Amino acid sequence: MDRIPVVEARRTLHVHIMRANPQDPESIPRMQRFELEEADSMTLFIALQEIRQTQDPSLQFDFVCRAGICGSCGMIINGRPALACRTLTRDLPTSITLAPLPAFELIGDLSVNTGSGCEACPNGWRPRASAEAEQVDIDSLEQPMEPELADKIYELERCIECGCCVANCGTARMQG
Ligand code: FES
Repeated sequence: MDRIPVVEARRTLHVHIMRANPQDPESIPRMQRFELEEADSMTLFIALQEIRQTQDPSLQFDFVCRAGICGSCGMIINGRPALACRTLTRDLPTSITLAPLPAFELIGDLSVNTGSGCEACPNGWRPRASAEAEQVDIDSLEQPMEPELADKIYELERCIECGCCVANCGTARMQG
């Protein structure tokens, strides 16, 4: 006899999002609650898109690649900095709290200017390893790199400048 497939009930997600509009001096930061049905393999990017498309088109958040490459979607997810496009809702409880990354200039809601945090770092620190040349001559030939040097900077070059490490740094937050 054929087995009847077990269909798991879909979860209802309760997403609490910090809303703030620094452009409007009258606006008071607040938490706003949204509800939506979880879909298979749903990421937080998909959840936020759905909320914006079906419930509140004014919700601000940043995404470009949706693949953990561009670093745009860093935010505080249930108290920890993480990339929303790489976070599956099934790995979270049904109650999800989202806030913008601290230590950066707030643009609105979950959107921050991560460039502002890097400029403020001492000694011109940049998260990406780069050549010392002031100006880049795009017509010049690329300089070959010794394998030993390539090995040394490999981890630094993998940085996608999402700002999650800065947001998690107590010193950066005190200086911000
Ligand atoms: S959207 Fe590019 S890293 Fe998440």
